Amino acid sequence: MIDKGTIDKVMETAQGQITEVVSEFVNLRRRGINYIGLCPFHNEKTPSFIVSPHKGIFKCFGCGKGGNAVNFLMDHEQISFIEAIKILGKKFHIHIEEKELTPEEMAHQNDRDSMLVVTSFAAAYFMDRLHKSDEGKSVGLGYFRERSFRDDIIQKFQLGYSPESKDAFTKEALRQGYKLEFLEKTGLTIVRDDYKVDRFRGRVIFPIHSLAGKVIGFGGRVLRTDAKTAKYLNSPESEIYHKSRVLYGMYQARQDIARQDRCILVEGYTDVLSFHQAGINNVVASSGTALTTDQIRLIARFSKNLTIIFDGDAAGIKASLRGIDLVLEEGLNVKVLLLPDGEDPDSYAKKLGGEALQEYIQKHQTDFIRFKTGLLLEEAKDDPIARARLVQDIVRTISVIPDSITRTEYVKDCSSLMKVEEQVLYMEIGKLRKKRQEDASRRTHYSENASPTDGVSASQQQKTDQMMARAASKSSNPFDAEEWEVLRFLLKYGDATLGEFEFEDEKREVSVGEYIVTELRQDELESVNPLYNKMMELYETNYKNENFSSSGFFVSSSDSKISSLATDLIAREYSLSRIHGKMGVVATEEDLLEDLVPKVVTELKWKKVKVLLEEKRQQLKKAEEEKNEEKFMEFLQELNNLQQAFIFISKSLGERTVV
Ligand code: CTP
Ligand code: MN
Repeated sequence: MIDKGTIDKVMETAQGQITEVVSEFVNLRRRGINYIGLCPFHNEKTPSFIVSPHKGIFKCFGCGKGGNAVNFLMDHEQISFIEAIKILGKKFHIHIEEKELTPEEMAHQNDRDSMLVVTSFAAAYFMDRLHKSDEGKSVGLGYFRERSFRDDIIQKFQLGYSPESKDAFTKEALRQGYKLEFLEKTGLTIVRDDYKVDRFRGRVIFPIHSLAGKVIGFGGRVLRTDAKTAKYLNSPESEIYHKSRVLYGMYQARQDIARQDRCILVEGYTDVLSFHQAGINNVVASSGTALTTDQIRLIARFSKNLTIIFDGDAAGIKASLRGIDLVLEEGLNVKVLLLPDGEDPDSYAKKLGGEALQEYIQKHQTDFIRFKTGLLLEEAKDDPIARARLVQDIVRTISVIPDSITRTEYVKDCSSLMKVEEQVLYMEIGKLRKKRQEDASRRTHYSENASPTDGVSASQQQKTDQMMARAASKSSNPFDAEEWEVLRFLLKYGDATLGEFEFEDEKREVSVGEYIVTELRQDELESVNPLYNKMMELYETNYKNENFSSSGFFVSSSDSKISSLATDLIAREYSLSRIHGKMGVVATEEDLLEDLVPKVVTELKWKKVKVLLEEKRQQLKKAEEEKNEEKFMEFLQELNNLQQAFIFISKSLGERTVV
């Protein structure tokens, strides 16, 4: 644990020296008070990436990425916040104060460290054997060559070879002083009462890396096809290796996944290798099993777009369809790609080569839900019962998608594909979502004493978090209702045009978002709710980006507090009666933005000034009691100013009585 003070110090220093941080990765040129260069987050030929040393931020006007020095490092290196802080600390010679660990934590940490030392030694040993020993060269390297893997790929993935002899590795490790305890804990050595044996003996080795590039486990493949043992052996679960949280190749692919904003998922080790060999680097493998939620979230950290490559037959594919609902549930956009009969990604990559493979993927990847609908339709033909089941199946799949706009698009598509009316699909989806919500809230109810994630879906957990946050903020935030309303308009209609406004030197259209941001900034209206402030800040720094969508931006935030608040804000309807009352007709909120937006902003100001007035009156009274004439005069003046402001605001609201 790093203490907060150190983090602040690093952040501050990095902020002030952002050009230094960025210029390690980007060639920057001075332009006025800013620096400019080619954006490292997307491919561009003319620079649109700006660093402002003055503001301590970077911003790409091409792809929209922006943030501070820490964000830059996190995004560029695809590392965590803490990792970025550590790197920057080192860079700026700030000693990173880590919180002292308890003896238990220490022992645990030491165990993990010792295991990592052993796996790192093992990886080096296996590589050394592959390249230096006669057996390794003829058998191991020979095998990779026969499968035509290039040397640079063998290097890139640190492939190795574990000799045939039953304990060559264990003996060497012990001789060099590594402890048997950790050889066993990492699964590299299998220890029995009367013998020790190398788990991976006689196999070629595929090291598995953590995101930070440490070797945490291994896969070993037999060389002979006639062998009776399993084709692949993998490291057992351990303190450093959790199969369900790891994706093979993520370490090598992470930057490319982020840069191309797409992740390709294949099944096996050799598939990943062959894709890299063909120049396609944004690829990871699930190692032959269905994706877990942890793995999906790992992918989502780098991109929300996933292409899954299937090499199986129709039956195999059908079996995996249900698993993909889990991916949709996490908010990813999924495409699938079917390879021709008898091909797997490895063989097909080798057959086509890079360019043709790239083209093939582009051309044949299909949106998952459309693909699934097509597949099931083909099967159901005209059988009415099968078709009914199909509709239920697709409806269930669409209903798990968190984003309502995406759901709407699918309803349209699938309605025409299946020839079922949209309305019917909406109704069914509504029912399923309602039921799921009820189930989840019942579960929360019963498991109040259980740990927060026990048996509660992530979205339900978010809901609860959000309800609690809102309840807490309501009691301590006298402006919650007004601020909530302003935020709601910001998110829902931020991109809409409010009207033409005159500025000193020009006349131009202003969006709802720009209006709100400007109004609140002008009067320095901050909330006591940090979440509201954070959203305002995020809005301000991002709304000018190309393709910015006020609702999409927040709903898809990786901060679950923000995304769930956003979802709630957007879902809430303005009470129609208010609109009815004022205009005499029922109109939609959207038609009335010109009136409503200034109104909600003014209402917030009115409330703020009202509270300030009350405070000032109290202060004045106190000064009077204390006979503090100086203070009394000062407060009186301020009270007077506030009253003026209050009258002005009240007038513009039109319907308030002046106090
Ligand atoms: N796998 C495994 N254990 C097995 C078989 C497979 O862990 N006994 C995992 C491996 O990660 C493997 C993936 O499932 O890479 C896919 O299996 P498969 O298609 O059989 O292997 P390939 O990757 O095609 O390997 P190769 O091309 O070397 O046959
Ligand atoms: Mn294969």
